[in-house]
Amino acid sequence: MSKSTRSLEVRPCREPWEASFCVPGDKSISHRVAILAGLARGETKVTGFLPSDDCLCTLAAMEAMGAEVDRSGSADPARPETLTIRGVAGEVRDPGALVDCGNSGTAMRLLAGVLAARPFRSEVAGDRSLNSRPMRRIALPLEAMGAQVAGQGENCKPPLVIEGADLRPITYDMPVASAQVKSCILLAGMLTRGRTVVRQPEVTRDHTERLFAHFGVPVSVDGLDVTLDGPVVPMARDVTVPGDVSSAAFWMVAAAARPGARLELRGVGLNPTRVGIVRVLERMGASVAMQVDGGDDGEPYGTIRIEGGPLQGTEIAGAEIPNVIDEIPVLAVAGALANGVTEIRDAEELRVKESDRIREVVTRLRAMGAAVEEFDDGMRIVGGRPLSGAEIESHGDHRIAMAFAIAGLFAEGITRITDTACIDTSYPGFEERLAMLLARS
Ligand code: S3P
Repeated sequence: MSKSTRSLEVRPCREPWEASFCVPGDKSISHRVAILAGLARGETKVTGFLPSDDCLCTLAAMEAMGAEVDRSGSADPARPETLTIRGVAGEVRDPGALVDCGNSGTAMRLLAGVLAARPFRSEVAGDRSLNSRPMRRIALPLEAMGAQVAGQGENCKPPLVIEGADLRPITYDMPVASAQVKSCILLAGMLTRGRTVVRQPEVTRDHTERLFAHFGVPVSVDGLDVTLDGPVVPMARDVTVPGDVSSAAFWMVAAAARPGARLELRGVGLNPTRVGIVRVLERMGASVAMQVDGGDDGEPYGTIRIEGGPLQGTEIAGAEIPNVIDEIPVLAVAGALANGVTEIRDAEELRVKESDRIREVVTRLRAMGAAVEEFDDGMRIVGGRPLSGAEIESHGDHRIAMAFAIAGLFAEGITRITDTACIDTSYPGFEERLAMLLARS
């Protein structure tokens, strides 16, 4: 099916349903595993890799930098979940050609940290959405370390030309709470002689720090500060990627808002910097249980069980925002299905994601009949109004497409989501899972 024509029709699902399944691998962890294994000395066997368009971009970039990837252990080598990566032992090769990051801000920001630390010139670019996202947030610290980063306009949008160098370490006070910026600097610091310190304004996801420890890169965390003494060559070590809680989020909301529904999700990553959605749904009155089943690779994983019931509105704001940032589109849908008011604040970062997610969520919820007020940094939803099916354009944003597919389960009539090829950037197989769920109800 051609990219522009793929679409998804969702009919309402009124029956309480029961399901137990696993979601695909965590996107954030998969990017980082590809990079660290690609830089490491030795061979890393990766199980549970997320074979989404985004992570495949990062993998291809690491191959262009000299890593060798064996996909033969996977049923589908084009979308490998099991792979072996032989790293370059710190000897990063000039990728030679433009590094294509597709739709992925994580790929671009993290890879820029690696490219900036080696003495060659490289170019990185993405699709239309990525090329409109701000890269100044990484250009500033990388330039302070001695690289040159040239982009378009005031916000340094991609395509970027990175003039790498032997960097000097910095202590950097991050103005935005961004795990991508933190990871960019830490990766550059790992390849640089001396002490690099990143100070976060708020806690952000800590997968880079955990994987550093797994790959033998000494990193210390003191409150909001992360310190690393470089240079260090990571040591290859096999890793299993847990399921992505941000993908689980769609089904969690679908179950939580349907009285009588019962859902069990197994093998989901339960890193405390990612499971804010569990607390939000609990505040909304959902019955959610989280059970840790393991986590020897540094990332806890386990089972999430949800029983659906009536939801009530809540407030999502402040330090909680980085922990739920990618779940806000589907949590806004939960807000529209809940009784009372849901207010989302301090989430202005949503405006510079794969799309302006405040604008896209507000306009689409309104198109389905919800009462929503837009703020610069969030929205206020008066929940409990009946939703009606509508034609929903994804705007090429995977989380908008999937969040509104979930809204469609609760709407009157058919909801048609258009331009759904973007779903493959984070959740290949989402549509099939939705069809299975609908077939059961
Ligand atoms: C990510 C961090 C978050 C998140 C993104 C993935 C990561 O972005 O929104 O989807 O893997 O580090 P920021 O930390 O830049 O806000």
